[in-house]
Amino acid sequence: MSDVTTPRKRLFIRTWGCQMNVYDSTRMADVLAPLGYAPTEQQEEADMVILNTCHIREKASEKVFSDLGRLRELKQEKAKAGQQMVVAVAGCVAQAEGAEITRRAPWVDIVMGPQTYHRLPEMVARASRAAGAQIDTDFPVDQKFDHLPEVSAEQGPIAFLTIQEGCDKFCSFCVVPYTRGAEYSRPVAHILAEAKRMVAGGTREIALLGQNVNAYHGEAPDGSTWGLARLLYELAEIPGLARLRYTTSHPRDMDDALIQAHGKIPSLMPFLHLPVQSGSDRVLQAMNRGHKADAFRRIAEKLREARPDLALSSDFIVGHPGEKEQDHQETMSLVRDVGFALAYSFKYSARPGTPAAGQPFQVPEAEKDARLAELQALLRQQQDEFNRSVVGREIDLLVTGPGRHPGQIAGRSPWLQPVHVMAPGFTPEPGTMLRVRLAEAFPNSLSATLLSEELACA
Ligand code: SAH
Ligand code: SF4
Ligand code: F3S
Repeated sequence: MSDVTTPRKRLFIRTWGCQMNVYDSTRMADVLAPLGYAPTEQQEEADMVILNTCHIREKASEKVFSDLGRLRELKQEKAKAGQQMVVAVAGCVAQAEGAEITRRAPWVDIVMGPQTYHRLPEMVARASRAAGAQIDTDFPVDQKFDHLPEVSAEQGPIAFLTIQEGCDKFCSFCVVPYTRGAEYSRPVAHILAEAKRMVAGGTREIALLGQNVNAYHGEAPDGSTWGLARLLYELAEIPGLARLRYTTSHPRDMDDALIQAHGKIPSLMPFLHLPVQSGSDRVLQAMNRGHKADAFRRIAEKLREARPDLALSSDFIVGHPGEKEQDHQETMSLVRDVGFALAYSFKYSARPGTPAAGQPFQVPEAEKDARLAELQALLRQQQDEFNRSVVGREIDLLVTGPGRHPGQIAGRSPWLQPVHVMAPGFTPEPGTMLRVRLAEAFPNSLSATLLSEELACA
């Protein structure tokens, strides 16, 4: 427990990768708070630095090593001044390359995999006593969630809640099943309690997180197993919780109950991130995605039948081993058929230990570049079209805080777009819902005009 005599120490956390890492970083801060660690934005003044890393593509994991180089200098400077700085590497690079980290960066004090954060206090204590890195990259049988402290109540108006972790899908290109381990769903009661606490602390929008969130199958209080749809209906009953989302889903687990939930739960926002990766059946098969391109088209149609204003976002990989120009054109045609409001697209990056990395017929870099450019031009055009298509609509805007310019309010639309409203002299609290009309579309945001002041939350 913290007490008034505990000296205040400063904690700097740098986060790469997915939203799961963002969530984990907040949980690590929660675990360290009772030891007297308060967050800082200044790496230089930190007593402890945690790099929460991502291993998904080569570029992502290389960034960690360049950051560690800079930290070494900082640590040496501090030592000269008689100060200590604990350096910890967490996340998926720690899990996948723990030994490599201690070899290349022996000044690192702690290396910890994503399933071990609840043991951080113990590792910090050991690190300050002993020389040499403390390494913890187990996949403990007792899940980390059972041992983490309760989530701190005030998460802000928009917050994440992890309900599922790990992945059993083993897509050919992906490191996640190796870095995050097997699929695990948290029990329903824990999720409901955490959500209620967040709402009591002022959260209005919760995004449920999981590497395969729609494969959720958690234990319910009556001993039965609930899928994601059932959980969403229950969460939607929490008074004051105005908006629900979930991410990231796999097309294979997009069952009818979940699709229908989009039509039946008004607080389930009309925006869904559903990665498809490729529009070619041949490549989808090589990727071990377990569905065909037309199955994805059908899911998109059914979702829009259930909720006509639903917008989709997705992830794409170009240049998976064996991908030919014809396959790429099939991806382009899927994009044209479905239409995406937002998308992330990547060049295939060979990851050590994954099945695709060892396959023959790796696509030359120049072809990957050309395909990515063609795909991104189309996706950019679709994003612009989507943003323009909602101009003129009246929406509920969830206020996140003041905007960048004086007199502006910033918020989030139902479709995840950042929106700013000019309203000098009016400073609604974050978490307020405002009725606005979308006025103008910019490349990554929209402006809006105020229609009415506060709109009571459900
Ligand atoms: N669970 C999600 C994706 C997690 S990783 C799903 O099932 O789709 C986020 C995205 O990174 C993926 O959707 C994929 O598009 C991309 N990605 C993963 N591995 C990659 C690799 N080896 N090279 C390039 N992009 C990759
Ligand atoms: Fe990776 Fe595939 Fe699992 Fe997504 S479903 S995390 S892409 S293995
Ligand atoms: Fe990266 Fe690990 Fe997330 S590899 S994308 S941080 S699960």
